[in-house]
Amino acid sequence: MPTFTGEEALNYDQRIGKLVPGYALLHQITAAQLSVTLAPDATILVVGAGTGREIIELAAQHRGWHFIAQDVSADMLEIADQNFTNLGIADRVTIHHGKVTDNLFTADAALCLLVMHFVQDNGDKDDLLAQISRNLKPEGRLYLADLMTPESGFEREAQFLFCHTALGLTEQGVEKMRRNFVEEFYPIGLERLNTLLDKAGFSTPLVYFKALGFSAFSSHKCI
Ligand SMILES: C[S@@+](CC[C@H](N)C(=O)[O-])C[C@H]1O[C@@H](n2cnc3c(N)ncnc32)[C@H](O)[C@@H]1O
Repeated sequence: MPTFTGEEALNYDQRIGKLVPGYALLHQITAAQLSVTLAPDATILVVGAGTGREIIELAAQHRGWHFIAQDVSADMLEIADQNFTNLGIADRVTIHHGKVTDNLFTADAALCLLVMHFVQDNGDKDDLLAQISRNLKPEGRLYLADLMTPESGFEREAQFLFCHTALGLTEQGVEKMRRNFVEEFYPIGLERLNTLLDKAGFSTPLVYFKALGFSAFSSHKCI
């Protein structure tokens, strides 16, 4: 996994839009679904909150919502915390550094956007989903976005081309991305995702976003 520390954390916001086709749209349409399903005083668990993009977007739209910003990178959370302070929303956000091992929260919904593809499928993905489930209310919805295994022999090449020509990623950046996808990502297919979610007590995932290799799914807790 990339370290998401130091320079990697500082450059994250300017880098991510060149790496994920439809990054802004993914966040906007996730927010739209939360807006029509959650109460005005909802609490949202944001797993892998990074520099705070999800929370910044959602907090501006719903003044009564509270958030848990969880991440394993202290550097990413530090930037997020500064952003929350600058925007005057820090009092609505609980920062949680490290895994959410216990039943600490009872969130109404959970987001896990662009995180689980960095987690190995050796029991670690199961652990992450179990953590989310433990901190979510019964029937609570999970929104999950990940790099998936390619659905055709040309999807990845199209993705690299799009990032270069449409999103402005340099040729060097494309080469790095090509390497990272092999060395630092652990993508899975829809069938495996279905199995993992089912084991963690979630419903069959529904696709709500797909842009080349990245897909997003909604699911709800059944137990
Ligand atoms: C690509 S960033 C996504 C950040 C944010 N969700 C967004 O959409 O911009 C991935 C984030 O996931 C965090 N991360 C990686 N593995 C994690 C884990 N097992 N639990 C929580 N956060 C994790 C990284 O530290 C990083 O901040």
